[in-house]
Amino acid sequence: MEVNVIYNENCIVTLKKLPEKSIDGIITSPPYNINTERSDCYYNNGYSEIDGLSENDYLQIRTDEFLQFSKVLKDKGVICYNISYSKENPILPTLLVSRVHSETDLTIADIICWKKPNAIPFQTSPTKLSRITELIYVFVKKAYLHDFTTNKKISKVSKKTGQKFYRNYTNFVEAKNNDGYKSRLKATYSQDLCRQLISIYFPKGSLIYDPFSGIGTTQLSCLESDCFFIGSEIIKEHFDICMNRLREKNVSLFS
Ligand SMILES: C[S@@+](CC[C@H](N)C(=O)[O-])C[C@H]1O[C@@H](n2cnc3c(N)ncnc32)[C@H](O)[C@@H]1O
Repeated sequence: MEVNVIYNENCIVTLKKLPEKSIDGIITSPPYNINTERSDCYYNNGYSEIDGLSENDYLQIRTDEFLQFSKVLKDKGVICYNISYSKENPILPTLLVSRVHSETDLTIADIICWKKPNAIPFQTSPTKLSRITELIYVFVKKAYLHDFTTNKKISKVSKKTGQKFYRNYTNFVEAKNNDGYKSRLKATYSQDLCRQLISIYFPKGSLIYDPFSGIGTTQLSCLESDCFFIGSEIIKEHFDICMNRLREKNVSLFS
């Protein structure tokens, strides 16, 4: 299997050609289903032409992707899934997590709260709060809920009982909003965030897939952290930026 490759295609196509149990993990952020038809939409962010689905269609498409994630994920693999909500659909991430839990062999092992330096205001809402946090849902296979891969280190072992104590890793991460790269895609996250997720869950040499690669934040973080990557990105404009950013790092890329 080729690694350090990005495919300019729908992730479902990539997923169907990846071998079973070949990926150590996924770090990603999917489209949040923000309808383009609203002219006042703060987030008309460069991918929304494919992102105005009905709630049912959105949930079905994402759940089908999770079925494929499970197929390509190694047994002890980990999926870090960053999803937030828009003003119109605050329930959507919760509905998706529930569907994934009931319709796949994956479940939530942890939920990480990502605090950003800057809030995105709901400038047009008299009621909704400015969001300065987003959640990262950490999915693992149900059968490995207590035995999935992490980098957690033992800090001491009780001489009396043999009880192991681990270094303290919390479910609260402070990281930049984004890398400051200007493009039409506004819904990017930061290498700062990815680096911290990799340091919790992925040993050096891990193979990490991002089905929604955008402008390549996950892949750049993999390079920094001595991990390998595979990615998919459906929109050519984002794919080209992603490839250019990676080429600037002089990596040998397939594709
Ligand atoms: C929230 S953005 C991810 C941004 C990325 N984390 C970054 O920092 O650049 C979602 C991306 O998924 C892409 N996308 C949407 N549906 C897709 C699909 N079915 N397959 C592959 N890419 C898709 C969009 O074009 C967009 O670039």
